[in-house]
Amino acid sequence: MTKSIIFISGNGSNLKNIINKINSGFINMEIVAVVSNNSMAKGLEIARTNNIDTIVIDTEKPYLAIIKDLVKKHEVSLLILAGYMKILPEYITDEFRGKILNIHPSLLPKHKGLNTHKKVLESNDSSHGASVHFVNSELDGGAVIIQGQVNVKRDDTEETLKEKVHKIEYEIYPIAIKWFIEKHIELKNDKCLFDGEVLECPIEHIL
Ligand code: GAR
Repeated sequence: MTKSIIFISGNGSNLKNIINKINSGFINMEIVAVVSNNSMAKGLEIARTNNIDTIVIDTEKPYLAIIKDLVKKHEVSLLILAGYMKILPEYITDEFRGKILNIHPSLLPKHKGLNTHKKVLESNDSSHGASVHFVNSELDGGAVIIQGQVNVKRDDTEETLKEKVHKIEYEIYPIAIKWFIEKHIELKNDKCLFDGEVLECPIEHIL
C-alpha cells in the first residue's frame, strides 16, 4: 500500500477529508505521519485522534534529514502538502521531485502565494477555484494536475469564497492522490503526464 506523509500548518480540514476518503476506501493509502511547522496547528489533533504520528518541525533549521529518515523508515512514496504554509526548501523539492503534491486555493497560474480569496475579489475575477499540482522549487509553479472552478458572485466575501473553494478542494485532492497512487499521473521534465501523455492543460473537475 502507498505510504504518505501529510504536511499541515493549520486547521487540517483537507487532512480530515483525506482520512475520510481512506476510511471510505476511495484512497488506498496509509498516512505514516503528519508533519507541521506549527505546534498549535488544529490539524495535529485530527492526526492524533486518528492514531497518526505527529512531528513538529522547526523550519528555521534544516529538516531534510528528518524527512529523509521518515521516508526511508516507512518506505514513503508520496508527500502531501495540505495547507502547509511554508515554502519547501529546494533541498526537499529536489530530493523528492515528482513525489510532492500541493493544493492551492486559486486557479493557477493565477494568484500564486498567500491571500488568494482577497486577490480574487480585488481583481474582480468572475471565477475562482482550487488547483492540485506537483511541487517544484518555484512557489506554486509546478505542473498543475486538476482544477475545479466556482463562480464569484457580487456579494461574495473572503469567507464565502474560502468555504466554496474548500468544497472543491475536498473533491479534487482525493482524486489527484488516487491518480498518483494508481500511477495514472507522473511528473516528467516538469510536465504532468496522464497515462503516459503530456497534459497540455489541467484536467477540469466539474462539480
Ligand atoms: C486550503 O484552502 C489550502 O488550499 C490552502 O490552505 C488551506 C488549508 O485549509 N493552502 C495554501 O494556501 C498553500 N499555499 P485546511 O488546513 O483546512 O486544510
